[in-house]
Amino acid sequence: MIINPNARSVMHCLTVFGLVSLQFLILVEAISIPPPTGPYHVGKTRRAIHHYYDHDPLAPNNISTAFLATIFYPTDQKPKAPPQPYLWNGIAEYYENRWNYTKGFLQSLTSIVQYDAPFLEGSVGQSPFPTIIFGPGGGGPPVDGNTILLSELASHGYTIIGVDHPWDQPYIQFPNGTAVVGTAWDTWLTLAQVTPVYEARVIDNTVLLETLPQLVEDLNAPINTSLIGSLGFSLGGAAAIGTMYDEKIVSGLNMDGSFWGRTAANNSSSDVKKPVLLFGHELHLGGDPSWASFPLWQTGSFRYLLVNGTTELDFFDNTFWRLLEPNSQLGGTVDPYRMINITNAYVKAFF
Ligand SMILES: *[C@@H]1O[C@H](CO)[C@@H](O)[C@H](O)[C@H]1NC(C)=O
Ligand SMILES: *[C@@H]1O[C@H](CO)[C@@H](O)[C@H](O)[C@H]1NC(C)=O
Ligand SMILES: *[C@@H]1O[C@H](CO)[C@@H](O)[C@H](O)[C@H]1NC(C)=O
Ligand SMILES: *[C@@H]1O[C@H](CO)[C@@H](O)[C@H](O)[C@H]1NC(C)=O
Ligand SMILES: *[C@@H]1O[C@H](CO)[C@@H](O)[C@H](O)[C@H]1NC(C)=O
Ligand SMILES: *[C@@H]1O[C@H](CO)[C@@H](O)[C@H](O)[C@H]1NC(C)=O
Ligand SMILES: *[C@@H]1O[C@H](CO)[C@@H](O)[C@H](O)[C@H]1NC(C)=O
Ligand SMILES: *[C@@H]1O[C@H](CO)[C@@H](O)[C@H](O)[C@H]1NC(C)=O
Repeated sequence: MIINPNARSVMHCLTVFGLVSLQFLILVEAISIPPPTGPYHVGKTRRAIHHYYDHDPLAPNNISTAFLATIFYPTDQKPKAPPQPYLWNGIAEYYENRWNYTKGFLQSLTSIVQYDAPFLEGSVGQSPFPTIIFGPGGGGPPVDGNTILLSELASHGYTIIGVDHPWDQPYIQFPNGTAVVGTAWDTWLTLAQVTPVYEARVIDNTVLLETLPQLVEDLNAPINTSLIGSLGFSLGGAAAIGTMYDEKIVSGLNMDGSFWGRTAANNSSSDVKKPVLLFGHELHLGGDPSWASFPLWQTGSFRYLLVNGTTELDFFDNTFWRLLEPNSQLGGTVDPYRMINITNAYVKAFF
């Protein structure tokens, strides 16, 4: 059972009955996000990628020294435990407050993804399936907030390496437990300041591609290092396309992200010369000049897919969150299950 139609009233009881019953009820009533449908089970692990960058627009003194890679991958291991909470508490609390979800609601959501499950058998650095790098939205939610799609891809054999940039996300936690809290997007980031944040994302992706052979060796994992696609949501979608100028990327998919930097140049320099899909909400093409101009310069194969009845907030796990706690400000009129099916089907078909 995925959905508990009484989730709201259960949550209300929780706050009344206090901690003991809260733990008890969450145990009983924990709600799982839609599970992946592919033939594999799904593992997840994290690594810090060290990179000294002294033009970081968001870091204290403009210096960052690491970003976070979260890796979703296929595994043969059956889950040994019930589904686990899948968002850091720091993220769950942040969005509960920001989007008026019931306190504890996002913290109680679980996923069947297994932390640090064994990789499939296979030679290090090789896999019949491509690898996909992924970038989340600017200002969040981080990679974990896209688990429905990323676990679906992993269950079909892909390895996805998601990149969270410290201070760009409201909260991230490195594997050693060190947390980084960022609030820039809420408090001071102006439109003019987005371009350097975008550039930092593209640089992270480029560093990830350079370090991929070493990362794969450290993980001792059958991850394909030669056939790599690029995917992202919002600012991460723009950066996914911006990373395609790197020869290591073969194709790219931008989920609802406005273009910045070179991708927004509106001249022939924006041509990535490779297959691109722009996948967005119904008004994105008409409402965003960068979406109208980018295709003019593409010489590779190119498609749009616009989904009626959606807003930007339907292109990540929030489309499911708002199913449980409806709020007309937090998405479109589309049935969230239909949106999940559309997203999973077309992203999979593209890659
Ligand atoms: C950091 O970078 C931003 C944006 O590039 C700039 O406005 C700011 O002055 C820099 N801050 C420091 C302390 O260097
Ligand atoms: C959350 O509640 C505040 C205060 O009532 C309101 O101003 C804001 O628009 C709400 N936000 C959302 C996303 O519902
Ligand atoms: C990567 O995947 C492609 C497509 O399946 C395959 O042709 C190629 O041999 C793989 N590369 C490695 C190094 O495993
Ligand atoms: C934890 O890891 C991050 C990323 O490598 C690093 O910046 C931080 O200093 C580390 N924290 C501690 C306490 O070692
Ligand atoms: C494209 O536009 C950018 C930004 O306006 C400019 O720097 C670049 O020289 C232009 N390139 C071409 C090929 O026109
Ligand atoms: C992009 O360039 C085309 C033709 O060169 C022009 O018609 C269009 O208005 C430009 N778009 C933007 C957003 O500047
Ligand atoms: C989709 O949305 C667009 C823009 O609102 C509208 O013109 C079009 O008729 C809609 N299509 C369908 C099939 O509802
Ligand atoms: C979504 O896909 C599943 C599996 O194919 C199907 O059972 C379900 O009816 C679909 N839901 C919607 C709303 O399209």
